Amino acid sequence: MPKLSVNVDHVATLRQARRGKQPDPLTAAIIAELAGADGIIVHLREDRRHIQDRDLELLRQVVKTKLNLEMANTEEMLQMALRVKPDLVTFVPERREELTTEGGLDVRANHRPLQKNIRRLKKAGIKVSLFVDPDSSQVKASKQVGAEFVEIHTGQYCDAADDRTRQREFSRIARAIRQARRLGLRVNVGHGLDYQNVVPLTHIPDIEECSIGHSIISRAVLVGLDRAVREMKNLIPG
Ligand code: PXP
Repeated sequence: MPKLSVNVDHVATLRQARRGKQPDPLTAAIIAELAGADGIIVHLREDRRHIQDRDLELLRQVVKTKLNLEMANTEEMLQMALRVKPDLVTFVPERREELTTEGGLDVRANHRPLQKNIRRLKKAGIKVSLFVDPDSSQVKASKQVGAEFVEIHTGQYCDAADDRTRQREFSRIARAIRQARRLGLRVNVGHGLDYQNVVPLTHIPDIEECSIGHSIISRAVLVGLDRAVREMKNLIPG
């Protein structure tokens, strides 16, 4: 059974709408952990549109479960990770004009820079995951560059317009997970998961963690964060 990691970026999105102090992603992380979250995730973007450096530094001190830092593979972010020392770094592709991460990394095309920085992080005791599409060549390349984890991108499965497409995308994810495990990689999944589409994934025993942000924070606005996390945790008891 996968565990649940809660992404609190959108608590910061709301705060940054007024460039003020509320709501604080730190408080959200504490509530999420008290409600049963197995980990906390933030994406420190180069444009700092939601999470700020201060959030990351304080989260490192406050998070009692596991802290997963999503970031682009740049020298600035690498220095940040080496200083803050999250439990896991997940490399993601990043484009300033995107609303959210749009696709998986092209690990094959970025073999050298990924390999170099994965080595630097590992040396500092930080585990590394690569966010990739459910594509066999990217999974294979992830193993070759030295990642310990892959996070399989579930966006196309979640966005599927009809049942047939959804089933096809689900099969792609299941295949990519089997391949990753055969290669000795550990597996997380994420992007676009909600209270309905997460359920079939909970039956795949090889998934360690589901990374979920938008659906939980959206529900929290209406029912409260404690309840929103508990309801998701009931679906993914870990
Ligand atoms: N995993 C990765 C790599 C992401 O970039 C995101 C979005 O920040 C998520 C998971 C969470 O996606 P969502 O907010 O749609 O649950």
